[in-house]
Amino acid sequence: MKSKNKNTLNILITGCAGFIGYHLCYHLLKNKRIYIYGLDNLNNYYDVQLKKNRLKNLKKFNNFLFNKIDISKLNDLKKIFDKNKIEFVIHLAAQAGVRYSISNPDIYFQSNMLGFFNMIELSRLNKIKHFIYASSSSVYGSSNKYPLDENLSTSKPINFYGATKKSNEIISYSYASVYNLPVTGLRFFTVYGPFGRPDMSLFKFTEKILNNKKIDIYNNGNHIRDFTYIDDVVVAISKLITKPSKKKIPYNIFNIGSNNPKKLSHFIKLIEKTLDKKSKKNYLALQKGDIFKTHAKITKINKKIMFKPKIQIEDGIKNFIKWFKNYYNY
Ligand SMILES: NC(=O)c1ccc[n+]([C@@H]2O[C@H](COP(=O)([O-])OP(=O)(O)OC[C@H]3O[C@@H](n4cnc5c(N)ncnc54)[C@H](O)[C@@H]3O)[C@@H](O)[C@H]2O)c1
Repeated sequence: MKSKNKNTLNILITGCAGFIGYHLCYHLLKNKRIYIYGLDNLNNYYDVQLKKNRLKNLKKFNNFLFNKIDISKLNDLKKIFDKNKIEFVIHLAAQAGVRYSISNPDIYFQSNMLGFFNMIELSRLNKIKHFIYASSSSVYGSSNKYPLDENLSTSKPINFYGATKKSNEIISYSYASVYNLPVTGLRFFTVYGPFGRPDMSLFKFTEKILNNKKIDIYNNGNHIRDFTYIDDVVVAISKLITKPSKKKIPYNIFNIGSNNPKKLSHFIKLIEKTLDKKSKKNYLALQKGDIFKTHAKITKINKKIMFKPKIQIEDGIKNFIKWFKNYYNY
Protein backbone atom coordinates (compact mmCIF):
# COMPACT_ATOMS: atom_id res chain seq x y z
CA MET A 1 0.00 0.00 0.00
CA LYS A 2 1.53 3.33 -1.02
CA SER A 3 1.42 6.32 1.31
CA LYS A 4 -1.89 8.12 1.48
CA ASN A 5 -0.84 11.70 0.80
CA LYS A 6 2.07 14.07 1.04
CA ASN A 7 1.19 15.26 4.54
CA THR A 8 1.11 11.78 6.02
CA LEU A 9 3.91 10.61 8.30
CA ASN A 10 4.68 7.02 7.28
CA ILE A 11 6.16 5.03 10.13
CA LEU A 12 7.20 1.41 10.30
CA ILE A 13 6.96 0.04 13.84
CA THR A 14 8.37 -3.41 14.63
CA GLY A 15 7.14 -5.35 17.63
CA CYS A 16 3.72 -3.68 17.28
CA ALA A 17 1.96 -6.61 19.00
CA GLY A 18 4.33 -6.32 21.95
CA PHE A 19 3.73 -4.33 25.10
CA ILE A 20 5.52 -1.07 24.24
CA GLY A 21 4.87 -1.32 20.49
CA TYR A 22 1.14 -1.74 21.03
CA HIS A 23 0.83 1.30 23.28
CA LEU A 24 2.97 3.41 20.97
CA CYS A 25 0.88 2.46 17.91
CA TYR A 26 -2.39 3.03 19.76
CA HIS A 27 -1.27 6.51 20.80
CA LEU A 28 0.05 7.50 17.36
CA LEU A 29 -2.88 6.08 15.39
CA LYS A 30 -5.25 8.62 16.96
CA ASN A 31 -3.47 11.12 14.73
CA LYS A 32 -4.95 10.58 11.25
CA ARG A 33 -1.90 12.18 9.64
CA ILE A 34 0.16 9.24 10.79
CA TYR A 35 0.15 5.96 8.85
CA ILE A 36 1.63 2.95 10.60
CA TYR A 37 3.04 -0.22 9.07
CA GLY A 38 3.20 -2.62 11.98
CA LEU A 39 5.37 -5.75 11.99
CA ASP A 40 5.57 -8.63 14.45
CA ASN A 41 6.18 -12.38 14.27
CA LEU A 42 3.72 -13.05 17.13
CA ASN A 43 6.11 -15.54 18.72
CA ASN A 44 5.09 -17.58 21.75
CA TYR A 45 7.61 -16.28 24.30
CA TYR A 46 4.46 -15.36 26.24
CA ASP A 47 0.70 -15.75 25.71
CA VAL A 48 0.09 -15.27 21.97
CA GLN A 49 -3.57 -14.43 22.59
CA LEU A 50 -2.50 -11.32 24.51
CA LYS A 51 -0.54 -10.21 21.43
CA LYS A 52 -3.49 -10.99 19.16
CA ASN A 53 -5.85 -9.01 21.36
CA ARG A 54 -3.52 -6.02 21.30
CA LEU A 55 -3.47 -6.30 17.50
CA LYS A 56 -7.25 -6.53 17.35
CA ASN A 57 -7.43 -3.09 18.99
CA LEU A 58 -4.92 -1.67 16.52
CA LYS A 59 -6.70 -3.09 13.48
CA LYS A 60 -9.73 -0.93 14.33
CA PHE A 61 -7.79 2.03 12.97
CA ASN A 62 -7.78 2.37 9.19
CA ASN A 63 -4.39 4.10 9.24
CA PHE A 64 -2.79 0.83 10.46
CA LEU A 65 -1.53 -2.05 8.34
CA PHE A 66 -0.19 -5.22 9.95
CA ASN A 67 2.27 -7.72 8.48
CA LYS A 68 3.24 -10.92 10.28
CA ILE A 69 6.95 -11.03 9.61
CA ASP A 70 10.08 -12.28 11.29
CA ILE A 71 12.74 -9.58 11.22
CA SER A 72 15.48 -12.17 10.86
CA LYS A 73 14.13 -12.91 7.34
CA LEU A 74 15.71 -10.23 5.17
CA ASN A 75 13.77 -10.98 1.97
CA ASP A 76 10.36 -10.73 3.66
CA LEU A 77 11.37 -7.43 5.21
CA LYS A 78 12.67 -6.11 1.89
CA LYS A 79 9.22 -6.54 0.33
CA ILE A 80 7.68 -4.30 2.99
CA PHE A 81 10.21 -1.54 2.34
CA ASP A 82 9.85 -1.96 -1.46
CA LYS A 83 6.05 -1.85 -1.47
CA ASN A 84 5.56 1.07 0.89
CA LYS A 85 6.89 4.56 1.21
CA ILE A 86 8.35 4.38 4.70
CA GLU A 87 10.04 7.47 6.15
CA PHE A 88 10.59 6.63 9.82
CA VAL A 89 11.43 3.35 11.57
CA ILE A 90 10.80 2.61 15.23
CA HIS A 91 12.38 -0.74 15.90
CA LEU A 92 11.04 -2.34 19.08
CA ALA A 93 10.89 -6.02 18.08
CA ALA A 94 13.40 -8.06 20.03
CA GLN A 95 13.64 -11.06 22.25
CA ALA A 96 13.17 -9.34 25.60
CA GLY A 97 13.89 -10.63 29.11
CA VAL A 98 17.13 -11.13 31.01
CA ARG A 99 16.53 -14.54 32.58
CA TYR A 100 15.40 -16.25 29.35
CA SER A 101 18.63 -15.11 27.68
CA ILE A 102 20.65 -17.32 30.00
CA SER A 103 19.05 -20.52 28.69
CA ASN A 104 18.30 -19.35 25.11
CA PRO A 105 21.10 -17.11 23.81
CA ASP A 106 20.52 -18.37 20.24
CA ILE A 107 17.05 -16.80 20.06
CA TYR A 108 18.55 -13.47 21.17
CA PHE A 109 21.21 -13.73 18.52
CA GLN A 110 18.60 -14.36 15.83
CA SER A 111 16.20 -11.54 16.72
CA ASN A 112 18.40 -8.97 18.44
CA MET A 113 21.54 -9.26 16.32
CA LEU A 114 20.55 -10.55 12.87
CA GLY A 115 17.06 -8.97 13.07
CA PHE A 116 18.52 -5.67 14.21
CA PHE A 117 21.08 -5.72 11.40
CA ASN A 118 18.35 -6.35 8.80
CA MET A 119 16.32 -3.43 10.12
CA ILE A 120 19.16 -0.90 10.22
CA GLU A 121 20.56 -2.04 6.87
CA LEU A 122 17.18 -1.66 5.14
CA SER A 123 16.75 1.70 6.86
CA ARG A 124 20.05 2.83 5.35
CA LEU A 125 19.20 1.51 1.87
CA ASN A 126 15.79 3.19 1.98
CA LYS A 127 17.13 6.52 3.26
CA ILE A 128 14.99 6.48 6.39
CA LYS A 129 14.79 9.91 8.04
CA HIS A 130 15.16 8.60 11.58
CA PHE A 131 15.86 5.11 12.92
CA ILE A 132 14.77 4.83 16.55
CA TYR A 133 15.36 1.55 18.40
CA ALA A 134 14.96 -0.02 21.82
CA SER A 135 18.05 -0.49 23.89
CA SER A 136 17.88 -1.29 27.59
CA SER A 137 19.09 -0.34 31.05
CA SER A 138 20.75 -3.79 30.96
CA VAL A 139 23.69 -2.27 29.05
CA TYR A 140 24.86 -0.73 32.35
CA GLY A 141 25.71 -4.20 33.71
CA SER A 142 26.71 -4.02 37.35
CA SER A 143 27.76 -0.39 37.24
CA ASN A 144 27.42 1.11 40.71
CA LYS A 145 27.59 4.81 39.94
CA TYR A 146 24.05 6.14 40.42
CA PRO A 147 22.03 7.59 38.86
CA LEU A 148 23.08 5.74 35.70
CA ASP A 149 24.33 8.28 33.24
CA GLU A 150 24.48 7.79 29.45
CA ASN A 151 28.20 8.64 29.58
CA LEU A 152 29.12 5.74 31.86
CA SER A 153 31.08 2.87 30.39
CA THR A 154 28.78 0.10 29.17
CA SER A 155 31.32 -2.35 27.84
CA LYS A 156 30.67 -5.03 30.48
CA PRO A 157 27.06 -6.28 30.26
CA ILE A 158 26.42 -9.11 32.73
CA ASN A 159 23.94 -11.05 30.59
CA PHE A 160 23.64 -11.87 26.90
CA TYR A 161 20.46 -9.82 26.50
CA GLY A 162 22.42 -6.72 27.61
CA ALA A 163 25.24 -7.72 25.26
CA THR A 164 22.87 -7.79 22.26
CA LYS A 165 21.47 -4.36 23.17
CA LYS A 166 24.96 -2.91 23.58
CA SER A 167 25.92 -4.36 20.19
CA ASN A 168 22.89 -2.60 18.68
CA GLU A 169 24.14 0.71 20.06
CA ILE A 170 27.62 0.18 18.62
CA ILE A 171 26.29 -0.90 15.21
CA SER A 172 23.95 2.09 15.09
CA TYR A 173 26.83 4.46 15.87
CA SER A 174 28.78 3.07 12.93
CA TYR A 175 25.76 3.52 10.61
CA ALA A 176 25.35 7.12 11.75
CA SER A 177 29.05 7.69 11.24
CA VAL A 178 29.64 5.91 7.91
CA TYR A 179 26.25 6.39 6.20
CA ASN A 180 24.94 9.46 8.01
CA LEU A 181 21.80 7.52 9.02
CA PRO A 182 20.07 9.44 11.84
CA VAL A 183 19.80 6.98 14.74
CA THR A 184 18.46 7.21 18.29
CA GLY A 185 18.74 4.44 20.88
CA LEU A 186 16.46 4.38 23.91
CA ARG A 187 17.58 2.67 27.09
CA PHE A 188 14.27 1.70 28.67
CA PHE A 189 14.09 1.14 32.43
CA THR A 190 11.54 -1.51 33.62
CA VAL A 191 8.48 -0.35 31.72
CA TYR A 192 5.12 -1.36 33.25
CA GLY A 193 1.42 -0.71 32.77
CA PRO A 194 -1.87 -2.14 31.41
CA PHE A 195 -1.56 -4.88 28.76
CA GLY A 196 1.92 -5.49 30.21
CA ARG A 197 4.19 -8.49 29.76
CA PRO A 198 3.33 -11.75 31.56
CA ASP A 199 7.04 -12.47 32.17
CA MET A 200 7.53 -9.28 34.21
CA SER A 201 7.18 -8.92 37.97
CA LEU A 202 4.01 -6.80 38.16
CA PHE A 203 2.04 -9.25 36.02
CA LYS A 204 3.42 -12.35 37.75
CA PHE A 205 2.92 -11.01 41.28
CA THR A 206 -0.62 -9.80 40.60
CA GLU A 207 -1.67 -13.09 38.99
CA LYS A 208 -0.15 -15.23 41.74
CA ILE A 209 -1.51 -13.17 44.64
CA LEU A 210 -5.01 -13.26 43.15
CA ASN A 211 -4.72 -17.06 42.73
CA ASN A 212 -3.33 -17.62 46.26
CA LYS A 213 -0.03 -18.86 44.89
CA LYS A 214 3.44 -18.11 46.26
CA ILE A 215 5.40 -15.35 44.54
CA ASP A 216 9.09 -15.93 43.82
CA ILE A 217 11.25 -13.21 45.36
CA TYR A 218 14.89 -13.13 44.41
CA ASN A 219 17.56 -11.57 46.59
CA ASN A 220 15.14 -11.06 49.55
CA GLY A 221 13.27 -8.33 47.68
CA ASN A 222 16.33 -6.09 47.86
CA HIS A 223 16.48 -5.43 44.13
CA ILE A 224 15.91 -1.81 43.22
CA ARG A 225 14.24 -0.80 39.96
CA ASP A 226 13.50 2.48 38.23
CA PHE A 227 9.93 1.55 37.24
CA THR A 228 8.70 3.61 34.28
CA TYR A 229 5.05 3.91 33.35
CA ILE A 230 4.13 3.01 29.77
CA ASP A 231 2.33 6.31 28.99
CA ASP A 232 5.45 8.29 29.88
CA VAL A 233 7.52 6.06 27.59
CA VAL A 234 5.05 6.46 24.72
CA VAL A 235 5.07 10.25 25.02
CA ALA A 236 8.87 10.27 24.95
CA ILE A 237 9.11 8.10 21.82
CA SER A 238 6.39 10.10 20.03
CA LYS A 239 8.14 13.40 20.69
CA LEU A 240 11.45 12.05 19.40
CA ILE A 241 10.22 10.82 16.01
CA THR A 242 10.84 14.04 14.13
CA LYS A 243 13.82 15.07 16.26
CA PRO A 244 16.91 13.17 15.14
CA SER A 245 20.30 14.44 16.20
CA LYS A 246 21.53 17.40 14.17
CA LYS A 247 25.17 16.67 14.95
CA LYS A 248 27.74 15.79 12.29
CA ILE A 249 27.37 12.16 13.28
CA PRO A 250 23.57 11.97 13.78
CA TYR A 251 23.66 9.59 16.75
CA ASN A 252 21.85 9.82 20.06
CA ILE A 253 21.33 7.59 23.06
CA PHE A 254 18.89 8.38 25.89
CA ASN A 255 17.83 6.84 29.17
CA ILE A 256 14.05 6.55 29.37
CA GLY A 257 13.37 6.09 33.06
CA SER A 258 11.49 7.65 35.93
CA ASN A 259 14.50 8.70 38.05
CA ASN A 260 12.54 7.37 41.02
CA PRO A 261 13.87 3.93 41.99
CA LYS A 262 11.89 1.63 44.29
CA LYS A 263 12.89 -1.42 46.27
CA LEU A 264 11.15 -4.58 45.09
CA SER A 265 9.83 -5.24 48.62
CA HIS A 266 8.14 -1.81 48.56
CA PHE A 267 6.76 -2.49 45.08
CA ILE A 268 5.20 -5.74 46.40
CA LYS A 269 3.64 -3.88 49.35
CA LEU A 270 2.01 -1.45 46.92
CA ILE A 271 0.58 -4.35 44.88
CA GLU A 272 -0.74 -5.99 48.06
CA LYS A 273 -2.29 -2.71 49.19
CA THR A 274 -4.02 -2.19 45.84
CA LEU A 275 -5.28 -5.78 45.77
CA ASP A 276 -6.12 -5.60 49.47
CA LYS A 277 -4.51 -9.01 49.82
CA LYS A 278 -1.25 -10.28 51.32
CA SER A 279 1.19 -12.33 49.23
CA LYS A 280 2.68 -15.71 50.10
CA LYS A 281 6.41 -15.49 49.49
CA ASN A 282 9.01 -17.92 48.22
CA TYR A 283 12.46 -16.42 48.83
CA LEU A 284 15.16 -17.35 46.31
CA ALA A 285 18.84 -16.50 45.85
CA LEU A 286 20.11 -13.76 43.56
CA GLN A 287 19.86 -15.05 39.96
CA LYS A 288 22.82 -15.24 37.64
CA GLY A 289 22.78 -12.27 35.26
CA ASP A 290 20.43 -10.22 37.45
CA ILE A 291 21.22 -6.57 37.92
CA PHE A 292 20.96 -5.42 41.54
CA LYS A 293 19.88 -1.83 41.04
CA THR A 294 18.76 0.49 38.27
CA HIS A 295 18.28 4.22 38.62
CA ALA A 296 18.13 6.38 35.52
CA LYS A 297 19.54 9.84 35.16
CA ILE A 298 17.07 11.55 32.81
CA THR A 299 18.48 15.04 32.36
CA LYS A 300 19.57 14.31 28.78
CA ILE A 301 16.12 13.30 27.54
CA ASN A 302 14.58 16.09 29.60
CA LYS A 303 16.77 18.60 27.80
CA LYS A 304 15.92 17.14 24.38
CA ILE A 305 12.10 16.94 24.67
CA MET A 306 11.29 18.35 28.15
CA PHE A 307 10.66 14.79 29.33
CA LYS A 308 9.07 14.65 32.78
CA PRO A 309 7.53 11.35 33.90
CA LYS A 310 3.99 12.09 35.06
CA ILE A 311 2.66 8.84 36.50
CA GLN A 312 3.51 7.95 40.09
CA ILE A 313 4.10 4.29 40.87
CA GLU A 314 0.97 4.06 43.10
CA ASP A 315 -1.27 5.22 40.22
CA GLY A 316 0.58 3.10 37.68
CA ILE A 317 0.06 -0.06 39.74
CA LYS A 318 -3.63 0.83 40.23
CA ASN A 319 -4.07 1.24 36.47
CA PHE A 320 -2.39 -2.09 35.80
CA ILE A 321 -4.47 -3.98 38.37
CA LYS A 322 -7.68 -2.40 37.10
CA TRP A 323 -6.82 -3.56 33.58
CA PHE A 324 -5.74 -7.03 34.78
CA LYS A 325 -8.94 -7.70 36.75
CA ASN A 326 -11.11 -6.51 33.89
CA TYR A 327 -9.17 -8.39 31.17
CA TYR A 328 -9.04 -11.69 33.07
CA ASN A 329 -12.51 -11.35 34.67
CA TYR A 330 -11.53 -11.30 38.35
N1 LIG B 1 9.44 -3.58 28.79
C1 LIG B 1 10.60 -3.21 29.34
O1 LIG B 1 10.69 -2.98 30.54
C2 LIG B 1 11.84 -3.05 28.49
C3 LIG B 1 13.02 -2.62 29.11
C4 LIG B 1 14.16 -2.45 28.34
C5 LIG B 1 14.13 -2.67 26.98
N2 LIG B 1 12.98 -3.12 26.39
C6 LIG B 1 13.00 -3.36 24.94
O2 LIG B 1 11.90 -2.68 24.36
C7 LIG B 1 11.40 -3.42 23.24
C8 LIG B 1 9.93 -3.72 23.43
O3 LIG B 1 9.77 -4.47 24.64
P1 LIG B 1 8.38 -5.01 25.14
O4 LIG B 1 8.40 -4.93 26.62
O5 LIG B 1 7.28 -4.37 24.38
O6 LIG B 1 8.52 -6.56 24.77
P2 LIG B 1 7.49 -7.54 24.04
O7 LIG B 1 8.10 -8.89 24.10
O8 LIG B 1 6.13 -7.36 24.60
O9 LIG B 1 7.48 -6.99 22.55
C9 LIG B 1 8.40 -7.40 21.57
C10 LIG B 1 7.62 -7.84 20.34
O10 LIG B 1 8.56 -8.17 19.32
C11 LIG B 1 8.13 -9.34 18.67
N3 LIG B 1 9.30 -10.04 18.13
C12 LIG B 1 10.30 -10.66 18.82
N4 LIG B 1 11.18 -11.22 18.00
C13 LIG B 1 10.75 -10.93 16.73
C14 LIG B 1 11.23 -11.23 15.43
N5 LIG B 1 12.33 -11.98 15.26
N6 LIG B 1 10.54 -10.78 14.35
C15 LIG B 1 9.42 -10.05 14.51
N7 LIG B 1 8.90 -9.73 15.72
C16 LIG B 1 9.56 -10.18 16.82
C17 LIG B 1 7.42 -10.16 19.73
O11 LIG B 1 6.45 -11.06 19.17
C18 LIG B 1 6.77 -9.08 20.59
O12 LIG B 1 5.43 -8.85 20.22
C19 LIG B 1 12.28 -4.65 23.14
O13 LIG B 1 13.31 -4.38 22.22
C20 LIG B 1 12.85 -4.80 24.53
O14 LIG B 1 14.08 -5.49 24.53
C21 LIG B 1 11.82 -3.29 27.11
